[in-house]
Amino acid sequence: MADKQQTVVLLKPDALQRDLLGQIVTRFERKGLKIVAMKLIRLSEEMLEEHYSHLSDKPFFASLKQFMMQTPVVGMVFEGYDAIAEVRKIVGSTNPREADAGTIRADFSMTVPSNLIHASDAPETAADEIKRFFTEEEIFDYEKITDRYIFGEGV
Ligand code: TYD
Repeated sequence: MADKQQTVVLLKPDALQRDLLGQIVTRFERKGLKIVAMKLIRLSEEMLEEHYSHLSDKPFFASLKQFMMQTPVVGMVFEGYDAIAEVRKIVGSTNPREADAGTIRADFSMTVPSNLIHASDAPETAADEIKRFFTEEEIFDYEKITDRYIFGEGV
């Protein structure tokens, strides 16, 4: 039986500026991933230092932080079977020109710094990111009438 997981997605300032929010969210909805949290977040430098700590020694770290603070981002939590890997699959590789056609990054973007979207990459980071960006009250547990068609008994 597959594992039902929750994972964080951030729609970055380039997605907001380019009016791609709806088209991106549609990609996850049509897969059957359930939106269990969604809000605008104004990221602080402290949040970004934590979130991108694995990149703190990179030459692009300062510009990455600046970019992520240009506008609010859309923060979302999606739920579904193997949601962490499934969302990463739909998002595509970090470099949009190496990402598979049909992924969000390949279809809508050109460069690594402007790759539109962040998605948690492992169960530990997903758990950390849910805590970093959301309170417990902001994560919803609810039934959709499509649940039994999409989730069924699970496989
Ligand atoms: P990373 O965590 O390596 O990739 P991903 O977003 O696919 O999990 O990098 C985080 C973000 O940092 C990436 O989405 C865009 C930015 N970035 C750059 O601007 N330049 C770079 O060379 C890299 C590797 C990342």
